Amino acid sequence: MKLVDKVAVVTGGARGIGLAIAERYLAEGARVVVADVDTEAIDAGLVSLDAGERAIGRRLDVRDSASIDAMVASVQERFGTIDILVNNAAVFDMAPVLEVSEESFDRQFAVNVKGLFFTLQAVAAAMVEQGRGGAIINMASQAGRRGEALVSTYCATKAAVISLTQSCGLDLIRHGIRVNGIAPGVVDTPMWEEVDALFARYEGRPLGEKKRLVGEAVPMGRMGRPEDHAGAAVFLASEDSDYVVAQTLNVDGGNWMS
Ligand SMILES: NC(=O)c1ccc[n+]([C@@H]2O[C@H](COP(=O)([O-])OP(=O)(O)OC[C@H]3O[C@@H](n4cnc5c(N)ncnc54)[C@H](O)[C@@H]3O)[C@@H](O)[C@H]2O)c1
Repeated sequence: MKLVDKVAVVTGGARGIGLAIAERYLAEGARVVVADVDTEAIDAGLVSLDAGERAIGRRLDVRDSASIDAMVASVQERFGTIDILVNNAAVFDMAPVLEVSEESFDRQFAVNVKGLFFTLQAVAAAMVEQGRGGAIINMASQAGRRGEALVSTYCATKAAVISLTQSCGLDLIRHGIRVNGIAPGVVDTPMWEEVDALFARYEGRPLGEKKRLVGEAVPMGRMGRPEDHAGAAVFLASEDSDYVVAQTLNVDGGNWMS
């Protein structure tokens, strides 16, 4: 029970890694806000969490600053505080460089970078006002550690997340707000179904083959599961990581070392 009395907002919390983190935070004693653009998925996520009034859902579109402000105000009204933000919402796309569209580029940067930054800014402002510090965890990716031929734009968004984690961490620590990140490797979530289908298209593979190959290539011998990231998310949100600032922690079965 490392998060008793804490209030945590998990963006993109309705499914995948975000939902697994929400579930673990509840088990650690926190109250949790599942904040997602997909309201049907929020409802399904809340049913699976089965946490009564300790888990609430809020529609949030991180591309829209009015939506971010409304979410923050509504959580403060309901729970009185925000202590933890897991900045997890993101979208994926890929294509050969010569085929990347401006729409795809803008969509990914709007959610993965701009949305992440302004959600961080709004929640950090609330935390400063509360005067009790806080913990912010940005979801990066191994894709942010190194470019990939077919994944130029998504990789760039995740490199930006690692950079923002460093700069925001250095700036906000004066307020007692610790900003850190998690870099997953390959994780079996709905996002990877989309990734697999896109690799099938661009590499001429049967559906499912890329997913199988990337799982086999992980030193640990399998893809990550959403819940594999929950322990790191508890660590970075709790007092156990009090002296950890502006870091991005690889949670990837050994794929990456940095
Ligand atoms: N799955 C992987 O292999 C993998 C690997 C490395 C990093 N990641 C990162 O981990 C995080 C979670 O990934 P996942 O695989 O669980 O993804 P997912 O696609 O399964 O879930 C993402 C969630 O974000 C929500 N979302 C999308 N756009 C939004 C918006 N504008 N506002 C609010 N919510 C929005 C979606 O509705 C969805 O519920 C992401 O940041 C992703 O980039 C995933």
